[in-house]
Amino acid sequence: MTAPTFDGVDLIELAQRFGTPLQVYSAGDVRRRVQSLTRALHGLDALICYAVKANSSHALLKMVAALGAGADIVSGGELERSLRAGIPGERIVFSGVGKTAEEIRTALRAGVGRFNVESADELECLSGVARELGTVACAAVRINPDVDANTHAKISTGRAENKFGVSIDEARSCFAQARDFTHVALNGLHVHIGSQILSLEPFRQALQVVDGFRRELESSGHAISSIDVGGGLGVRYRAAQDSPPDVADYVAVIREALRDFHGRIVLEPGRWLVAEAGILLTRVIRIKQGSERRFLIIDAAMNDLPRPSLYGAWHDIVHVGQASGPVLAYDIVGPVCETGDTFAQARELAECKGGDLLAIKTTGAYSASMASNYNSRPLLAEVMVDGGRHALIRQRQSLDAMIADEVTTLQWISA
Ligand code: LLP
Repeated sequence: MTAPTFDGVDLIELAQRFGTPLQVYSAGDVRRRVQSLTRALHGLDALICYAVKANSSHALLKMVAALGAGADIVSGGELERSLRAGIPGERIVFSGVGKTAEEIRTALRAGVGRFNVESADELECLSGVARELGTVACAAVRINPDVDANTHAKISTGRAENKFGVSIDEARSCFAQARDFTHVALNGLHVHIGSQILSLEPFRQALQVVDGFRRELESSGHAISSIDVGGGLGVRYRAAQDSPPDVADYVAVIREALRDFHGRIVLEPGRWLVAEAGILLTRVIRIKQGSERRFLIIDAAMNDLPRPSLYGAWHDIVHVGQASGPVLAYDIVGPVCETGDTFAQARELAECKGGDLLAIKTTGAYSASMASNYNSRPLLAEVMVDGGRHALIRQRQSLDAMIADEVTTLQWISA
């Protein structure tokens, strides 16, 4: 059972007012996390660039921006969202393996502070677009350090077999090439080895590789003014089991690995800032006793929270308010027509009945931002709570809005 209040707001009332499924975010929790990371970074020339992909809600972006953070973006869409939330271009870093020339052009026009380049081809493209605009792009090379982050294979990015970053050899040739580019200032390094990392060792190893290369570059005359250490710090999905590193210990690893580096350190945390600040309220539609398993059918589905179906991810699920009755094992499933629409198997919960309110926990990251309209289910509503107050930050999508962009009368055009 979870306390029926969240950041001082009654969850039962929220569910009644806005309906379910409903994402609820604690502003207080996000604020405390930005502040504790900022405190841990004290004395360093550091910039927190929130990874927008974790949760791209305008209200959340505005809040982290007001606390001094910048943004780590991977698309023109995330650039637009960041700028609309008031994040200035110079506090934005642009990552990703597939930036198009058009996205690069828009980002350069918006004054994006740094491009984390992931291939020699991209470096050339960046240089060409910057030349065309008569500007100089500031860039870093993303190193693939071939380190195992010990996380789910689908969210691991720092192994040689992954599409991300370049090997040290290739990075060396990017820097050699960059000497000829008049419109790119290649003066940074970047590394991001994966997400939901629960041990500090992979971070230490990756940073050692990057710092070793930084020394090599500097001794061959390339000044390095910034190192972007990526994101990836894990959170507690399974309260009884997960023990993520303390943020101060994480920063201590960065301090230690980069102790001889005196430039700017960029961090790109996503999940750690917002995941635990979110819960997903959902109602039980009905219980269905199958011939082998007992199904608890809820009104949230894989389109609202795809993590369990995509990665087999665990989320704690609890009753909101009083729950009595014997503990039973349920397969907790959504209404979508896929067997993969399963949030948990044989999960123990006090006996449930239709209409009960449940909370799926730790849904602040990679939940609403990965939602879809699959099975023609409108995107859910989102609410922010803050010390007893609440505000709707995204209304439930209407059926009209869901269908609006489709062309109903086709205009066939002959070749
Ligand atoms: N920087 C880069 C270049 C990234 O690719 C990512 C995440 C981050 C920063 C932020 O990582 P974080 O601090 O949030 O771990 N959908 C998956 C997670 C995908 C992460 C993608 N990249 C999930 O639900 O687990």
